[in-house]
Amino acid sequence: MTLELDLTRDPAHIRHGSNIGQPLARRDGVLKVTGRARYAADNHPQGMLFAVLAVASIARGRVAALDIEAAKAHPGVVEVMTQANRPPLADDPDGKPNPFAFRFEALQNDRVRYANQPIAVVIAETLEAATEGAALLSPRYEAEPARIGLDNEAYIPPVVGMGFPAESRHGDVDTALAGSDKTVTTIYETPPHYHNAMEPHAIVAEWQGDRLVIDTPTQGLAMMQARLAGLLGIPPENILIRSPYLGGGFGGKGMMAGPQVLGILAAKLAGRPVKLVVRREQLYGPFGHRSPTRQTLRLGASREGQLSAIHHHARVVTSSFEDFYESAAHLTHTLYAAPAIATTYDAVRADTGTPLFVRAPGIAPGSIALESAIDEMAEACGIDPLAFRVQNYAEVEPATGKPFSSKALRECYTQGAERFGWWDRPLKPRMMRDKDGFLVGWGMGTATFHALMFAGNARAVIRRDGSGAVESGAHDMGQGAWTAFAQIAADSLALELDQVEFKAGTSDLPDAGIAGGSAHTATVGTAIHNAGAAVIGKLAELATADRRSPLYGAGNAGVVARGGRLLRRDDESRSESYGEILARAGLAEIDASGIGAPDQAANEHYAMHSHGAVFAEVKVDPDLGQVRVSRMIGAFAAGRIINPRMVKSQLIGGMIWGISFALHEEAITDHRTGRIMNANLGEYHVPVNADVPAIEAFTVEEIDPHVNPLGIKGVGEIGITGSAGAVANAVWHATGVRVRRFPIRISDLVPKAN
Ligand code: MOS
Repeated sequence: MTLELDLTRDPAHIRHGSNIGQPLARRDGVLKVTGRARYAADNHPQGMLFAVLAVASIARGRVAALDIEAAKAHPGVVEVMTQANRPPLADDPDGKPNPFAFRFEALQNDRVRYANQPIAVVIAETLEAATEGAALLSPRYEAEPARIGLDNEAYIPPVVGMGFPAESRHGDVDTALAGSDKTVTTIYETPPHYHNAMEPHAIVAEWQGDRLVIDTPTQGLAMMQARLAGLLGIPPENILIRSPYLGGGFGGKGMMAGPQVLGILAAKLAGRPVKLVVRREQLYGPFGHRSPTRQTLRLGASREGQLSAIHHHARVVTSSFEDFYESAAHLTHTLYAAPAIATTYDAVRADTGTPLFVRAPGIAPGSIALESAIDEMAEACGIDPLAFRVQNYAEVEPATGKPFSSKALRECYTQGAERFGWWDRPLKPRMMRDKDGFLVGWGMGTATFHALMFAGNARAVIRRDGSGAVESGAHDMGQGAWTAFAQIAADSLALELDQVEFKAGTSDLPDAGIAGGSAHTATVGTAIHNAGAAVIGKLAELATADRRSPLYGAGNAGVVARGGRLLRRDDESRSESYGEILARAGLAEIDASGIGAPDQAANEHYAMHSHGAVFAEVKVDPDLGQVRVSRMIGAFAAGRIINPRMVKSQLIGGMIWGISFALHEEAITDHRTGRIMNANLGEYHVPVNADVPAIEAFTVEEIDPHVNPLGIKGVGEIGITGSAGAVANAVWHATGVRVRRFPIRISDLVPKAN
């Protein structure tokens, strides 16, 4: 029997239904805008107490004393949890059960390893009492000098990013550079970034005997459940995590963090449910951040502008107690066709929280450096930056020689440039002004992000009433995943969207892996697609083996599922509804599971990446140095698009972060104390509406027959890449000033007084 399961043949073709590819509005949109979507901190179980963290105001040393009596004496305070009385854990928070279990603080000792590290938890009847109690603790410290910044003693990290080698060479860059007509050597610096999701981390924890029920936003339900089970010494099935809505994740909610464990322990200690919401300034520490980088780019090219070598070296920072190394040079393996490519790293330790995954980890800081350096080389060769990129287009992945599973980057360049009007651009900087006298500049950058898949599971059900259900413990951080998954679910069962019940967001559903790496739609989408195919397959077996069915004996011809019916492929007049098949078989429903996982053979043969081209226009006040982005256009190729409306929103969101990267965002650390000085949304600048111009994002058609059955490549992170460099390059084109330390500031652009 053959089922019509191959969605890769024709991008416009819909196998079972017409949901995939439609720009449906968010299914949870009305709930969100009317305030009815219940986020973690909106929960209030009977008898709940409030917990507030006390956090360290030093970056290194030990807590010498806390005035616990003063806190406890405050009306309403129920308990103060410190290292002296916190309930025991079955596993060491400083242990490393797997490479993705990151060390954290849960009051295991009196050490302070970074500013804003939790040092106590005050539990009270009201939020106000807990807050006041925490203030009354008045900690005294034995402080040691904080080590901050990029200039500590450097070493070669064992691996970087998700296990990539810290040194990787293809060809001989030094020889190639020595023989190049043109060379460019430049150093770029990028600052620490924090996730700054609108919804802060929060947990509501309730113990029911040896069962634990928690509400907390997470991008990785099953991973968190497994880690908690190990820490608490209870079976994973005794832990229910509910995470139906996240007010943004960006990687910051991917890994379980100390404050969540402290909320759970506080509930245990108090013997009552506890809510712990992390205050905005306390988010700048225990939840990861984007490592600062210092990147050295050495490029060589022929007189005609053919790249001969790229050496991308990145210095990155990790914490004093954990190893996470931002893979900032990684994208250089894949983007431009140079015969010699080397990526190398070194690292320093600092007294900060551990840097972790932040939207487009590695690639975002790497991209602003590489795209700036490519722009500098194009300038050195006297070639238009887009023409230079096209001239150095990688037809195969440069570092591995693998063909791309698909790569419509050329179409992105062409269509993006056309919509932007790029070809009128003067080669030299400082040549354009608008009617108000502002300097105008145009810049562009190439966007790229790997097309990953993790492992995920889904279960699909068809019921006798003809309806369907699909479930997976998947996550929607606000990106619209549930809407896209519901679309895939409906098509996978050949039903209409409103005939299919879609369930996600809790840990008692099939393990959906992690919503990260831009891989969630591809992973869970494939699992749903396969679960649907499996249940349709079971239904077809029932029918074709039953003499009473009009589909009897259709085995060799095969059946097609459409509109809640199975039809004989060679004679569609012979068909039967799902309900009829189940009724005759005496079944109330039929179900099957599906998994989504990377195809190892395909990954061995093909390099898999999304691509894009971003074009930016900036206007710079020639006297005041103020920069405004006035126009931005991004063209992206990311395989099959499940929901164009959600995708556009994801891409625009990424492009705004690109503006932010180039012009706004920076966590500033006081080098004397190791404290972050702008740990709030007033002084940690992110773009507001006035900073964001008309942004256009669109996708070009790209059919990928290799990445996964649906041809999905992912769009969650690529929008930042390329965009930050495009803005920086536009600033150069407007002003003639090349700024290599980000964000670009007014003081970089105003004429220096001598
Ligand atoms: Mo992303 S930084 O993989 O959530």
